[in-house]
Parts: sequence; C-alpha cells; structure tokens
Amino acid sequence: MNTPNYVDIFDTTLRDGEQVPGCKLNTKEKLIIAKRLDEMGVDIIEAGFPISSPGDFKSVEEISKLVKNARVCGLTRAVKKDIDVAAEALKYAKRPRIHTGIGTSDSHIKHKFNSSRERITEMAKEAVTYARKFVDDVEFYAEDAGRTDNDFLAKICEEVIKSGATVLNIPDTTGYCLPEEYGQKIRYLINNVKGIEKAVISCHCHNDLGLSTANSISGVINGARQIECTINGVGERAGNTSMEEVVMIMRQHPDLNLDTKIKSKLLYSTSQMVSESMGMPVQPNKAIVGSNAFAHSSGIHQDGFIKNRETYEIIDPEDVGVQESSIVLTARSGRAALAYRAKKVGFDLTKLQLDIVYKEFLRFADEKKEILDRDIPIIIQKSNIDI
Ligand code: KIV
Ligand code: ZN
Repeated sequence: MNTPNYVDIFDTTLRDGEQVPGCKLNTKEKLIIAKRLDEMGVDIIEAGFPISSPGDFKSVEEISKLVKNARVCGLTRAVKKDIDVAAEALKYAKRPRIHTGIGTSDSHIKHKFNSSRERITEMAKEAVTYARKFVDDVEFYAEDAGRTDNDFLAKICEEVIKSGATVLNIPDTTGYCLPEEYGQKIRYLINNVKGIEKAVISCHCHNDLGLSTANSISGVINGARQIECTINGVGERAGNTSMEEVVMIMRQHPDLNLDTKIKSKLLYSTSQMVSESMGMPVQPNKAIVGSNAFAHSSGIHQDGFIKNRETYEIIDPEDVGVQESSIVLTARSGRAALAYRAKKVGFDLTKLQLDIVYKEFLRFADEKKEILDRDIPIIIQKSNIDI
C-alpha cells in the first residue's frame, strides 16, 4: 500500500462559518472550538478576520496563544492596515499564517473595485510582499476564482508566488463551478503557473449549487493539497465545504491515495459541539453527522443490515464517533427489525411469538409514527403470548 498524499485541512468554521447570519460565537466559545479543532488534527485554523471588530481581534489573539499544533491564520483584504492588524493579532501564534487576497473575476474587478486586471495584480503583489514582512507563511486568495478567466488567474498566481505567497487559495466564492470545471482549473494552474512547485494549491468551495464537496474533491484529485472547510458545512449563504464529508470521502476511497491527518472519531462530537454553540441544528439527513446518517428504517434495508452491516452501510459509525447504527421501528419495518430491537431490550422471541407480536406491532406503528424501546414491552404484553 502506497503512503497516501496528505491533504491539509484548513478549517474556517471560526471565520467563514461564523459569518452565518445570527450565529455569532463569543470568544470563550471560539476558544473551546479551536482547542477541539487542534486536538482533532486540523492543520490550519482560520481564527477570524482581525480588523473586522475588536472582538474578532481578541479571539484571534487568544486562539493564537492557545493552539499547540495547528497553524493559526487570520484573514485580511489586500490592504496594509488589515495586514498590520492581523500580524498583531497573530503575534503569539507558534505558526502564524496571514491570508490575504482580492477579487480577481471581471465582475469583482469592475463592480467592487472599478479597477483593471493590471492594478489588481499590483495590489495583490503589494499585499503579499507586505504580509511576508511579518510572517513566513502567506496564503493568497483570488476571490471568485471560480468565475475568473484561467489565463489571468494563472498570471496573478505566478506574480504572487514571486512575491512570496506559500499557498494559493482558489475560491469558488459563489459556488458556481461544476466539479470537472473546478478540477480542470486546478490542473490548468499546475500546468501553467511558473514556480507552482513552491506553493500549495488550496480549494475553497461554497455550496450554492450543492457542489462544494464534489468540487473540493475534484480539486485534490487534480493536484490541490489543501481543502478549506467548516464543521457541518456552515458558512455564507448555502455554506462551505463540510469537513466531515471530505475527510470521510478520502478515507473511504483509498484508491484515491489521498488522506488527511484528521482523527475521524472526533467528527460527530465536534459537529454536535459546533451545532450547539452556534445554535444551528444539523439537518437529520446530513451526510456523516446527521441523526439519520446511520439509521435504517425501511424493512428491506433493515433486513439486509441485520444480516450484514455492509449491505447498507459504507462507513462504520464508530469511525466517526457515532456509537452504533440504529434500526428505526415504523410501520415500514419488517419482522427482522422487530426481532432485533426486541432482543436488544430483553425479549428473544421465537418465530411463532414474533408472528403474533408483529401483528400487534403493526397496529401500534400505524398509529404512532415511530416505535420506541419503551413501547416494545407494551406491545408484547398486548399480544398475549407466554414469555
Ligand atoms: O469565499 C471566499 O472567496 C472567501 C475568501 C475571503 C477566502 O471566503
Ligand atoms: Zn468563503
């Protein structure tokens, strides 16, 4: 088995994730999350946007003091004042990174900056050169790279590498790209940017069309080696790439020969922690961490699962920190599921007994949407069988 190519996990729950309307985290909550991200093996923690508010500055500063292993990163615009403030907030970090950049699509250049490609390139170079005066690790983001012309994107990437950028972030800011298109963009940069071997390419994908995970995976298949993501996929509008999804995709597909250093057993509890502190419930059918991710409810699936877990499960729930899969009892469940759950609560039914109890069970289940463990003894008692 080859040693896999490691993909760095850049977590932006505390910056892009925290931009979600109504989901402000205080410094104490951010510190608890940052500590957990560090423990779970995140490579880079984007702690905030220091110039945006005194509270955010304080959070970045405190996280910088706390974090032991991960790099700590602060966001800036391509503006000297932003960079000064970020450098100040990061001064206690063992491994600080400044993340600076500017919009590069024609739409951003015209409508946001009323500028030109030449001027934007100059501003990008100046920002990276300036940030390098404070730290050795400078990540450049080409905002709206997803809709940026590839030739211009390659040119600006080449220039910022010359200015000292160590990481090139290629955001699909508006979640517009198709997976193949995004992957080809990454491949194009690898093939056309002089000096590209000096920098790591990073994927930062938004989920406006539900493609952020697919695009990030396409990016790493095509040579990117960092994924920017958030716990539960929280983030602007429809959100960012979800960490739990990209980590488990690489783990479940060893054929890709890609992996991360994330301790996947901490994914579920971290998802719960972030959901509770942000006050943002996780949708039940969310991949990997949703409450239904390991719940089997139709009779056919339950029967297969009870015979062999692998018939309907591709991930062992314990690998992501979920104690066990569940068999949900509803009117769609079959005898196998009822027998399985009855046994778990102490009733080992014979075939004959099961036939009788099953009839009573269906009467109950038609009335009550879901049959819980505490309902099973009542159903058995109503069935009038000798136990
Ligand atoms: O989506 C985006 O383009 C961003 C950048 C600021 C990195 O979040
Ligand atoms: Zn973003």
